[in-house]
Amino acid sequence: MSKRAFIIVLDSMGIGELPDAGLWHDEGSNTLAAIRNHPAFDCPNLGSLGLFNIEGVGGGCSRPAGSFARLGEVSRGKDTTTGHWEIAGLVSETPFPTYPDGFPDEIISEFSRLTGRGVLCNKPYSGTDCIRDYGEEHVRTGALIVYTSADSVFQIAAHEDVVPVEELYRYCGIAREILQGKHAVGRVIARPFRGSYPFERTSNRHDFSLVPPKDTMLDLLAKAGLATLSVGKIYDIFAGKSVSEMNRMTCNDEGMDITLKMAERDFTGLCFVNLVDFDSKYGHRNDVEGYAAAMTAFDRKLGRFLPLMRDDDILIITADHGCDPSTPSTDHSREYVPMLITGKHVRRGVDLGTRTSFSDISATVLDYFGVDKEDTAGESFLHDVLSPAGLLPDGSPDDGQLMDAAVAAREKAYAPYSRHRVGAALLTCDGTVYTGCNIESATHTPTCCAERTAVFKAVSEGRRDFAKIAVVGGMDDVLSNICAPCGVCRQIMAEFCDEDFIVVLGKPGGYREYRLGDLLPFMFTRKDLS
Ligand code: THU
Repeated sequence: MSKRAFIIVLDSMGIGELPDAGLWHDEGSNTLAAIRNHPAFDCPNLGSLGLFNIEGVGGGCSRPAGSFARLGEVSRGKDTTTGHWEIAGLVSETPFPTYPDGFPDEIISEFSRLTGRGVLCNKPYSGTDCIRDYGEEHVRTGALIVYTSADSVFQIAAHEDVVPVEELYRYCGIAREILQGKHAVGRVIARPFRGSYPFERTSNRHDFSLVPPKDTMLDLLAKAGLATLSVGKIYDIFAGKSVSEMNRMTCNDEGMDITLKMAERDFTGLCFVNLVDFDSKYGHRNDVEGYAAAMTAFDRKLGRFLPLMRDDDILIITADHGCDPSTPSTDHSREYVPMLITGKHVRRGVDLGTRTSFSDISATVLDYFGVDKEDTAGESFLHDVLSPAGLLPDGSPDDGQLMDAAVAAREKAYAPYSRHRVGAALLTCDGTVYTGCNIESATHTPTCCAERTAVFKAVSEGRRDFAKIAVVGGMDDVLSNICAPCGVCRQIMAEFCDEDFIVVLGKPGGYREYRLGDLLPFMFTRKDLS
């Protein structure tokens, strides 16, 4: 079995204020609400997966194709790194440090000592303003321009002719080593520039992220020998730790094109995708229309991704924080994020309500691969959303083997009156198979179909956990192309199984799976008697 999990993070696509949003001055922020009524917003695929069925969102469809939850953030932060680390099972108890008054002397003097260069600026500053205001002094003296922002960043600007780029990167490495413990900023960033006054920045920007201080989902997956493929910023966010493959992107569209290619590739493990444009191009720029249009563009690509999903794939769509483009603030907002999950074996329309932490995603993904979550945070919701067939252990009989078992059971059919011989093979959730054949009676009425024989055999052995049944039948020695279970058998299946129970129909060499819910719509079950 080659299981694959895809996590797509719609960067900043929050769905409403968290209870503690006031502490962050984000009362009332709701990124999705800000864009969903714009004419440029048209997201039928997200809608049918259940985006609007999520608690607190509103306007959901009647039969969502996916399962869904609203996730809260436990970490003390609302930035990209914190959000993604929590999605990966690492909760940040303390926020990354910020420096509204510049970095303390002890940091700056140590940095100066190790680089042998002076420091200019040392305060929050715009990147373009600081090279305009300090660039000439830097060129004259060789001192480095160090500045920060509202984010947890230590940025170093230097002219490429004064400080060669490789040297600047080395200085960033020095800063990265100094900035640990209580001064562990999220990122150290090299900001090279060139030319003469007013100067221009070059494309040699480079981010030196903080290495996650504890194991994340990525480390545990990698240790288990599973692929950890990344698209977009994921590699940087985890400082490359336990990321087996990096794929950079220049825009969301390209990110999704890479993800579509991933879906066509063979691998076992995780493909972790970040789509940053929502945040960087639209959220921070308070561009409601741009944000809405970008969601529409994503939804189109999602429509192309879904048909590429294989039997053992799961897809989770989520976000890392909010960035409401309709509020005066251009900063991130402390919001709940959506969690949509879909896949062939994922139940439709399971409402997981509101959950405490983004980390439930990592716990679920680890659970899916059978990897122990060790010290990582989160509660798996896998068993709430996977159908019985999705929970079968590795090595369970496949549909072809079930068909063969049904054919063998048919050999024992007792059908002297109708000569219609039927065999069934019922698979329980631990991978055991119970077979059955039809058994007729001269008085007709007591006749028992093959499916019921198998179900009753299993139930009388104490089993009620059924994943699938294969059924074959036909007159005398001939197998029909399909032997459809009779109404009574469908009703008996519905007694022990739910809509997601799988019925395999056809004959060896030509068969397919059906959901019981599709074979017996609006089924009457014991639930109707409670
Ligand atoms: N039969 C089954 O065993 N399963 C079905 O789903 C359809 C019908 C049997 C019952 C009877 O012995 C014969 O086929 C003809 O109805």
